Amino acid sequence: MCTKDGVLMQRYELGKLLGHGNFAKVYHGRNLVTGMSVAVKVIDKMKVIKAEMMQHIKREIAVMRLVKHPNIVQMHEVMATKTKIYFVLEYVKGGELFDKLTKGKLKEEAARTYFQQLVSAIGFCHERGVYHRDLKPENLLLDDEGNLKVSDFGLSALADTKRQDGLLHTCCGSPAYVAPEVIVRRGYDGAKADIWSCGVVLFVLLAGFLPFHDSNIIEMYRKIASGRFKYPSSFPVAAKSLVSKMLDPNPITRFSIGDIVEHPWFKTGLVYKPMTEGLVSSDHLEHNVEELGNCNAFDIISLSRGLNLSGLFNEDEKEVRFVLKQPATAIFSKLEEICNMLKMKVMKNNGILVEISSTEGKSGGLVIDFEVLEMIPDVHLIKAGLVGGDKLGFWEIMNDHVRPALTSVVV
Ligand code: ADE
Repeated sequence: MCTKDGVLMQRYELGKLLGHGNFAKVYHGRNLVTGMSVAVKVIDKMKVIKAEMMQHIKREIAVMRLVKHPNIVQMHEVMATKTKIYFVLEYVKGGELFDKLTKGKLKEEAARTYFQQLVSAIGFCHERGVYHRDLKPENLLLDDEGNLKVSDFGLSALADTKRQDGLLHTCCGSPAYVAPEVIVRRGYDGAKADIWSCGVVLFVLLAGFLPFHDSNIIEMYRKIASGRFKYPSSFPVAAKSLVSKMLDPNPITRFSIGDIVEHPWFKTGLVYKPMTEGLVSSDHLEHNVEELGNCNAFDIISLSRGLNLSGLFNEDEKEVRFVLKQPATAIFSKLEEICNMLKMKVMKNNGILVEISSTEGKSGGLVIDFEVLEMIPDVHLIKAGLVGGDKLGFWEIMNDHVRPALTSVVV
C-alpha cells in the first residue's frame, strides 16, 4: 500500500488538504526523515488516462523537474502507483498572493515587486520553451519571506480549465485570466497567452478588481475578446501603458517578455542578471544566488547514480541519468550523429528536450526523450527516458551507441 496510515511510500506523512482541482488534490506532507514540510499533489491516473493526457503529462513532468527558479514552486520528486501519481513539491507557507487583496488593491511598490518576480519566473520558463497556460490567482503563492512562487508550471495538461484540445471548459473555473485567442481559437502561442494572464494579474494587483468581469460568463467572454477595460482613477499612470500593451487582444502586437522588462515602470528598482538567473530584484539577490547555487556537486551526485559508473546502466529501468562534462552543443551534435546513424528522427522540443523516434526497421515505434540540463557551465545532466517502444531497443541504443559516446563522464 502506498499511503498506508496516511504515509506515502514510507517517506512522507500526509496531513491536511491544501486544495483540490479536477484531476488532483494537494495535501500537506512531512518528510519522515528530515521533518521538512512538502506539498503532495495526488493525481488520479484513471482521470488522466480517460482524458488521454498521460503522454502529455509525462513530458511536462520531465521538463518541470528540470526547472529551478527562486520564484517557481520546485518539484522535488515524482512517484507513482498503479492508480495515482504523486508530485512532491516545495511547500509554500504564506498562502495565496490574492489573499493580500482582501482589503483592496496593493501599494504600487508591493505590486511591482510581485510582478517583477512573476515576470522573472515566466521569462525563465519561456526561454526554455515551457509555458504555464493556466496562470490564475490559485497558482500564485507566497513563501514565508513574502516572495512570490508560481505553482503548476509546465502542468497545463492538468489545468482544470482546459479540455484535451486545449479549449476551455465553460462549466468550471472563471475565464477571467484567459487570453482572448485561447477562448476563440484552437492553436495559440503559449508565451503570449501567459503574458495576457500576467497583464490581468498586474491590473488586479494595482486596481483591486478584475479588468474583465461579468456575472454572465458569455458577457465576460465578450468583454475579454473586445479587450476593452477601464482603469480606476487611482491606477498608477506610469503602469497604464504597460498593462494596456499586455492586455492587447492581438497576440502579435501584445508585449513580449523582452518588451515588459524594458518598460520604465517595470525596471524601477531592478538589476538585470543575464544568463540562467533571469531577472532579480536587488533586494533578494543573495537569496537568488543561493537558490540557483543548488546545482552543485551534491545535486549532480544525487541526481545521477553515484560515483560508480558500472552501476549507471540498469536494464530493468526505463530511464538513465548521467552527467557529462561537455558543452551542450557537443552533446546535441553527438545525439544527432547517433540518430542519423540509426536513421531515427530527431525532434528538438525546446532548449532542453530532444526526442528521438523511429518508425522503421527493428527499432520501429521506439521513442526516447533526452533532457539536457546545464548544472554548471559545460557540465550537463542528461536524462534519457523510454517514452514509447520496448526496453530492449532502448537499452541497445544506450549500451551500443550512447555509452561509448560518454567520453568525459564526471559522475
Ligand atoms: N497549495 C497548492 N500547492 C501548494 C504548495 N506547493 N505549497 C503550499 N500550498 C499549496
